[in-house]
Amino acid sequence: MTDRSFPHAGRPAADVLADLADKRSGDARWAEGRTFGLVFDGGDDVRAVADAAAHLYLHESALNTAAFPSLGAIQSELCGWIAGLFHGPEAAGFLTSGGTESILLAVKAARERALAERGVTEPEIVLAESAHAAFHKGAHLFGLTVCRTPVTADLTADPDAMATVVGPNTALVVASAMDYPTGLVDPVPEIAALAASVGASCHVDACMGGFVLPFAEMEGRPAPTWDFRTEGVTTISADIHKLGYAPKGVSVLLHASRELRRHQTFVFDQWLGGLYATPNLQGTRAGLPMAAAWAVVSHLGIDGYRHLVRSTLDAADHIRDGVRGIEGLALRGDPVHQILTFASDDPDLDVFAVGDALSARGWHVDRQYPPDCLHLTVSNGNVSVVDEFLGDLAASVEEARSATSGGSGQYATID
Ligand SMILES: Cc1ncc(COP(=O)(O)O)c(C=O)c1O
Repeated sequence: MTDRSFPHAGRPAADVLADLADKRSGDARWAEGRTFGLVFDGGDDVRAVADAAAHLYLHESALNTAAFPSLGAIQSELCGWIAGLFHGPEAAGFLTSGGTESILLAVKAARERALAERGVTEPEIVLAESAHAAFHKGAHLFGLTVCRTPVTADLTADPDAMATVVGPNTALVVASAMDYPTGLVDPVPEIAALAASVGASCHVDACMGGFVLPFAEMEGRPAPTWDFRTEGVTTISADIHKLGYAPKGVSVLLHASRELRRHQTFVFDQWLGGLYATPNLQGTRAGLPMAAAWAVVSHLGIDGYRHLVRSTLDAADHIRDGVRGIEGLALRGDPVHQILTFASDDPDLDVFAVGDALSARGWHVDRQYPPDCLHLTVSNGNVSVVDEFLGDLAASVEEARSATSGGSGQYATID
């Protein structure tokens, strides 16, 4: 039972820190590369520059960038750099706290735009069943109706199915580049054209792909069309705290133009506190993640990201090859980037029992459904342990043949 009494007397810092270190001992072992997802480790030099920047900005507030102009500059420089990377010469945006906040704000902006430009009072979001849960959260919070459509046999969003539900109330049509469940890139041009056909917004969720696809294209890898070069795309989200290798708490939401960006912001002065203007859902914003992201992106540059993407995609390819060679496992879809998912094609093999056996060996992989499958987001931190992982995966499959799993619980329960 947790001790619920508020600490009476304070304790020496050394004691407190020793306690914290102890609390962490059961956490995922990301620094050893054994966590596929959750923490993205760019290597010693990237961590060092992030640590130093975080230390500099530990206490700064981005609520008021007039008081902290450096944070205003950090935000506009990062947004400008990423807009350039995504081929949006007029694109403008703001930093947010993560992929979910970027998506929530894209939903809110699409709703405001649909009301302002087309008088839509019962707004709808059209999305595939592979789109991230955060869009449903946004619909729930901002009062939109979700029109959810099935994916095609190749597991990408189906523009034909989406076309049947796009109509005068559509405020937003969603494409993923890439989607979380399978790591596939949707047919963005077709989806964006659908949105444009009714004057709706089209959001490309590049939370996972934004810091991979541009560099993969530079590396000569398959280059789907997904960014602001695509007619009809109005917003793009990309998470710097994922494959951008910045510490947690930072993503970007870009709009195709400054004009469209105004639907994101909230400006209010009908209270006793004067003008209150925020671009985000948060009020007070930490400067730390913004500064650390700026430092990491500046440190890596295009060359650094190309290097990280090259080794990460090679590692993901290697794991896919290994999975193909293990009897009983079946890859889902045909992703070619850093995400891979596999199910069991053997009725006597419970893939979650494979997950249990991997956990017992110190690996963290995500579990998802339907269908029951294991999900890996490969990143730089995993590159050196790929062969060890494949060996443990084969052993885990053998072990799991005689077991069934405790379940799919990938997230701790909320209490
Ligand atoms: C494609 C995609 N979109 C959005 C999100 C949500 O991002 P966050 O967890 O940073 O809020 C994720 C998270 O994995 C994602 O993979």
